[in-house]
Amino acid sequence: MGVSSTPAPAHCDVWWAAPALASPALLELLDDAERARHARFRLPADRDRYAVAHALARLLCAGAADCDPREVTFLLHCGHCDRPEPHGKPRPAGPAAGWEISITHSGERVGVAVSRGPAVGLDVERIAERDLDGLVSYALTERERAVLDAAADHERAPGFFTYWSRKEALLKATGQGLSGGLTSVEVSGPHEAAAVLSWRGPAAPERVWLTDLDAGGDYRAALAVLADGPVTVAVHDASALLRSPHGRPGPRPFAH
Ligand SMILES: CC(C)(COP(=O)(O)OP(=O)(O)OC[C@H]1O[C@@H](n2cnc3c(N)ncnc32)[C@H](O)[C@@H]1OP(=O)(O)O)[C@@H](O)C(=O)NCCC(=O)NCCS
Ligand SMILES: [Zn+2]
Repeated sequence: MGVSSTPAPAHCDVWWAAPALASPALLELLDDAERARHARFRLPADRDRYAVAHALARLLCAGAADCDPREVTFLLHCGHCDRPEPHGKPRPAGPAAGWEISITHSGERVGVAVSRGPAVGLDVERIAERDLDGLVSYALTERERAVLDAAADHERAPGFFTYWSRKEALLKATGQGLSGGLTSVEVSGPHEAAAVLSWRGPAAPERVWLTDLDAGGDYRAALAVLADGPVTVAVHDASALLRSPHGRPGPRPFAH
């Protein structure tokens, strides 16, 4: 028995994959509702991102719970609307109950974050060189806008998506999603270490830890964990796991 009452620092594993890894073997891992949703996507790229993300989430939860990926269930919770189809933040249930995940996909990136305990939010965004004016007023607070307005032209889009990924990672960690309002939370500027400056509203969490992740030059990514920091983060490439989803990947995919 330990004598210290200091809790162990939180830990989060982040796995990245490419949508090109989509395969019939991965589709077999999905449940009926996931397969139905998969079939409804019109664009093959959306289908592939969805299949890889959901197969990966199942494989990681199965590795954590030591069960078959098809035994994992996800409860979806939306606290905002009464749309009959289940949607919202996925929470592992069944054998993987007690684990927390967050799924994200954009362009050529699919990411899944997994933690034992504290809620997590992961967001990746491909930097799009487009007219950002409408998005800026939708997503940024006055102070954040002022920082972006002072940036050089070529820094505007990367800076905006740094803001967006940080704020959306936070709103995904609490489960509010965009309905929580991107302007309810204010974060540090793109050239500063990721930090929450303020968070308004009843859903603002007591504890939160935020970091940027490197997802390649054309992307911005962030991870939020509802825990006191510092949180240890281990980043992994999921390619081998997705190429042989039925193989036992030697040592368990992550330590816990
Ligand atoms: C879903 C959302 C949180 C993230 O969207 P995004 O940046 O476009 O997409 P990402 O790839 O980063 O994240 C999508 C994943 O977030 C997860 N997610 C969905 N709602 C979530 C929520 N409220 N909180 C946390 N995670 C959520 C899902 O796993 C989803 O993956 P899936 O679509 O493959 O099942 C955001 O778009 C949102 O809040 N949308 C709600 C708008 C809406 O449909 N409102 C009506 C119903 S309330
Ligand atoms: Zn809803």
